[in-house]
Amino acid sequence: MRTFFRFISRLFYRYIVKSYLFSKPPDQAHNMMIDFGRWAQKIPFLMFLLRFTMKYENKKLAQNLLDLHFKNPVGFAAGIDKNAEIGYCIAGDGFSFGSFGSITARYGAGNPKPWYHRLEKYNSLLIYAGLPNWGIDKIVDNLEKLYDNTKNFVVVASLARTNDAKAADDAEGIKDYVYSIAKCQDKISLIEINISCPNTFKGEPFTDPERLDKLLTACDKVTSWAPVTLKMPLDKKPDEFDELCAVAAKHNVQALTIGNLRKDRNNLGIPDNWQGNIAGKLTEKQNNILISQTYKNWGDRFVIIGLGGIFTSLDAYKKMRAGASLIQVASGLMYKGPTIVPDIKKGLITLLQKDGFNHISEIIGVDTK
Ligand SMILES: Cc1cc2nc3c(=O)[nH]c(=O)nc-3n(C[C@H](O)[C@H](O)[C@H](O)COP(=O)(O)O)c2cc1C
Repeated sequence: MRTFFRFISRLFYRYIVKSYLFSKPPDQAHNMMIDFGRWAQKIPFLMFLLRFTMKYENKKLAQNLLDLHFKNPVGFAAGIDKNAEIGYCIAGDGFSFGSFGSITARYGAGNPKPWYHRLEKYNSLLIYAGLPNWGIDKIVDNLEKLYDNTKNFVVVASLARTNDAKAADDAEGIKDYVYSIAKCQDKISLIEINISCPNTFKGEPFTDPERLDKLLTACDKVTSWAPVTLKMPLDKKPDEFDELCAVAAKHNVQALTIGNLRKDRNNLGIPDNWQGNIAGKLTEKQNNILISQTYKNWGDRFVIIGLGGIFTSLDAYKKMRAGASLIQVASGLMYKGPTIVPDIKKGLITLLQKDGFNHISEIIGVDTK
């Protein structure tokens, strides 16, 4: 019965919902998706149907990491739900954890629109949002409600520096992060410090080792109540990336989320007047290289949360075999719809069995060791 419902949902998304959404400009389609999710959350029958259709759990996928329980390794990546408005849909879809935001200390209007372009040929998207969000004072209520009212769902706040002239100064930028972290205390399960949004007013100051050290020194004073993951930049040379890991290792950081948007847009035929950086399949290769390198050098120190271009269970499996203990999905959800979550989980079980493994934890890093 459930499999049949899922089959229908897959077709319905592919031929009706996606066709319709992809016929609209991506900014409008994104707003429609959030509006629909907000509305659907108020209708218990729809939420029951979502949970029923998407439910797929297996003890072989559950792990205890970062002092938290993850019922499966599949997470929702930062950026789609900037104000934590559709968290119950995300939890109902069967994700074990969800990053909401990125959220900043103050309200952010974002960059001039359009924020999004589709790169359909590459199963990718061009992102130029620039951290639009209501600000932590307002969003923290949504996070807290989600934290209080969901079971077995790890609520993650992705926190960034306000994208304006004031926070462009390093000291102000640090205050900005510290304020947001303190506001979230005991209202979320995992803190994601986003140092790598490439679409901001003054770039990414905290992807410089010395400045990162200053930021994390300040964050250490306010992060004792929850584990911390650092959202890493993608476009770094291997040794530069490693230097950032070394800085993080000196601080209260337990995980690395690898990684953020891709800046290199050469030879892809992207029109010059389309601004932004790349999400989706085009980020996969570089992410997998960095995950592998980080597992090799820092696998004993950090839990790795891997993302970038995950569209199938095999994509997720490869990332975990490279060294990621958990994975996240952003673009794949938009291209494939909500069934991507049970499809990945079910596919992971098939892949584990095929390769003779008994539990998901056994595959972490096997291709890197
Ligand atoms: C629409 C959209 C908005 C995003 N905004 C953010 C953001 O605010 N903060 C962040 O850390 N990452 C953001 N990202 C990056 C994703 O979290 C992820 O790192 C990247 O897209 C690679 O994953 P994917 O290939 O599954 O999309 C965004 C991605 C998308 C698609």
